[in-house]
Amino acid sequence: MNQPITIALSKGRILKETLPLLAAAGIEPAEDISQSRKLIFDTNHAHIKLLVIRATDVPTYVEYGAADLGVAGKDVLLEHGAKGLYEPLDLEISRCRLMTAGKVGEQVAGRRMKVATKFVNVAKAYYAEQGVQVDIIKLYGAMELAPLMGLADEIVDIVDTGNTLRANGMEPRELIAPISTRLVAGQAATKMKHAQIQPIIERLRQAVEAARTEEVSV
Ligand code: ATP
Ligand code: PRP
Repeated sequence: MNQPITIALSKGRILKETLPLLAAAGIEPAEDISQSRKLIFDTNHAHIKLLVIRATDVPTYVEYGAADLGVAGKDVLLEHGAKGLYEPLDLEISRCRLMTAGKVGEQVAGRRMKVATKFVNVAKAYYAEQGVQVDIIKLYGAMELAPLMGLADEIVDIVDTGNTLRANGMEPRELIAPISTRLVAGQAATKMKHAQIQPIIERLRQAVEAARTEEVSV
């Protein structure tokens, strides 16, 4: 008898790229997630369920054992601290960069810099490491607006194409970390449900490798 396994998925951008990988690993939701208001989904495996939740909540569900596995961006994991989580696999999707950015050509001199971000913990650690004293201002979205309105001198945010920065007269500055989506596993689940979890990780690993090969040959 298989022990039940719950996988917490980040909704939004990551979900769209996660579902094809899960399908390639042989795990498919029993209904169309995009057409449903449900939060828990059965799959084609009687013992595997999927949760579809806010990306920032995924590490919390896995940390407390409310989900056995999770799928979340490295940015979210860095900000959360990922205490008590293993990271067995890089899913190599939703790639982007966590960067500092500011208004084109603008330098701050003679005073403490103000930094707006939703990645408060990452930003604190990064500037401390650089030996730069900053005041961090927590925002929940549209970080690019903060320097334009004089709320902050720099932001710490996700950059992919750089289009959002460019469209707002901003420039990328320092790279804090390259980001991709990771599979995470809880400590308890890894010990207690090893026999069920290991094959899922292995099938996902093969799906990631297949997707990489496909990408190279296109
Ligand atoms: P929420 O809606 O929960 O506040 P969010 O708006 O950050 O989260 P998404 O925009 O769906 O959610 O992004 C989810 C994840 O996708 C991020 O945590 C990051 O890892 C990655 N990501 C975000 N922006 C981009 C981008 N422009 N290109 C590639 N990956 C991105
Ligand atoms: C993300 C991120 C940046 C943008 C970067 O926002 O917060 O604003 O993408 O991508 P780019 O460098 O390709 O422009 P998203 O589009 O997810 O909107 P959100 O801020 O509402 O989540």
